[in-house]
Amino acid sequence: MSQTLLKISSISKKVFMSLAGLFLIIFLVVHLSINLFILPITENHQEIFKQAVEFMTTFPLIKVMEVVLFGAFILHIILGVVLQIENWMARPVGYAVSTKSKTDSPFSRFSIHTGVIIFIFLVIHFMNFYFVKLGWVDPPAGDMPVADKHDFYNMALNVFNNPVYSVLYIVLILGLGFHLHHAFQAAFQSLGLNHPKYTPWIKGIGLIYSIVITIGFISIPLYFLIN
Ligand code: HEM
Repeated sequence: MSQTLLKISSISKKVFMSLAGLFLIIFLVVHLSINLFILPITENHQEIFKQAVEFMTTFPLIKVMEVVLFGAFILHIILGVVLQIENWMARPVGYAVSTKSKTDSPFSRFSIHTGVIIFIFLVIHFMNFYFVKLGWVDPPAGDMPVADKHDFYNMALNVFNNPVYSVLYIVLILGLGFHLHHAFQAAFQSLGLNHPKYTPWIKGIGLIYSIVITIGFISIPLYFLIN
């Protein structure tokens, strides 16, 4: 009985974790689409980036979404850690009973490690931008004068003109890529969307998504490193 309860609660944890993860997957698309305008991809890229930032920092609905975003991050992290601990604790029994391979698990072996890498990335990333916006830390130092706490364009230039940060971002974002590659398909699996016809498509889309997101985000520090 207690085993069944444990199983049910573990399944619901996975469902909530997957829903939060899927929200984060969408967030990354929006976040990358805006950030790419830091690069000279159009003539007026700087203007577009600044207008997008203006919209993101003033539009009331975005403020609500920001709360949902942080809620999703916290939920995802807490449930991920709890499920991983449960996984470790259940391991001796699991091996004896399970007939599935380890990679069938939505928590494939390295998710917790790449998750920790993302957490480290976020701490550094928030120190560079988000905590500046909140007024908790000073803007990143560098040659570009930062006009105010919403001047993310010059903050980004100061961050990425520092090769230490650029390399750090590239390495840590690679960790994000590995995490996403597994997480995308695992999320659908946890939601029960598992079908011989659709699963290969989900896996394929997940692979393309994680490659595009990883290369997209890496292109920003890489551009500054090369130039
Ligand atoms: C080179 C890559 C990236 C750049 C240039 C960048 C830039 C920024 C900037 C300028 C902000 C402040 C925006 C604001 O507070 O309104 C921000 C916030 C944030 N970033 Fe990034 N980011 C990058 C990669 C990432 C990645 C890979 C993640 C997720 C793993 C991420 C997650 C976040 C979150 C959660 C926030 C706070 C929420 C928000 O304000 O939108 N960022 N980022």
